[in-house]
Amino acid sequence: MSDCLKVFMGGDVFSDAGIAVVEQKLKKLRQEYSIDFVIYNGENASGGNGLLESDAAKIFEAGVDVITGGNHIFEKRDNYPFLASEKRVLRPHNYPKDIGSIIEGAEETPGRGFAYYECKGTRIAVLNLQGREAMTALDCPFKAAAECAKEAAEEGALLFVDFHAESNDEKEALALFLDGKAVAICGTHTHVQTADERILPKGTAYITDLGMSGVADSVIGSDAEIVVKRNLTQVLYKMENAVGESVIQGALITIKDKTVTKIERIQF
Ligand SMILES: [Fe+2]
Ligand SMILES: [Fe+2]
Repeated sequence: MSDCLKVFMGGDVFSDAGIAVVEQKLKKLRQEYSIDFVIYNGENASGGNGLLESDAAKIFEAGVDVITGGNHIFEKRDNYPFLASEKRVLRPHNYPKDIGSIIEGAEETPGRGFAYYECKGTRIAVLNLQGREAMTALDCPFKAAAECAKEAAEEGALLFVDFHAESNDEKEALALFLDGKAVAICGTHTHVQTADERILPKGTAYITDLGMSGVADSVIGSDAEIVVKRNLTQVLYKMENAVGESVIQGALITIKDKTVTKIERIQF
């Protein structure tokens, strides 16, 4: 492998504003930091929920290599064939699997959550997982992580994990569980960037949440006024996506000779 590899992992792209900021700024960010590979969470790209093929195309065009997902990834129901065919788009790996082998004729969950890519002669494995605390009770993310880490090691690939979860506790636990077996474990889903980026004792780069790419002055991407009104009245007024100045948030991981040397929190 090349001796230095820089990988950027970006927090959830939120709606048109999020796509626009990635389109406007990612190439500059790639250039400024000499980034080789970009993994971006896109579960909220299409109108705040889900990912349409047309929006994925814009995100790839902006300089993203792999788009990961989360609990909202299946909310654009027309995108299931696309999730199944596009290897550069992942959804959480620990959704139910092998349904058809148990129930004859049953459909499988669309898409995949674990795949291999190539960058500068280095094999890169990307694993997308989803947490279970205060979320849907999917299959165990820890068992899925262990299984994929074993396979990635056998394949000689560097493993990057997007752990899409609500709970800080579950995210830190998974990160320490996988420490030394993955190059990086970055959390997504809360849309709030945490300031705990660090290299764990056995060498894995970690941050609890990458944050969001979208309107800075918003409530996790939505119009603040409406969210406040919903809180005050407890009436579920229709949410609107925020408009305004947008930022890219994420983390940059530097790897030298297969060893993580740095994780930097980015707001751009
Ligand atoms: Fe999200
Ligand atoms: Fe999410």
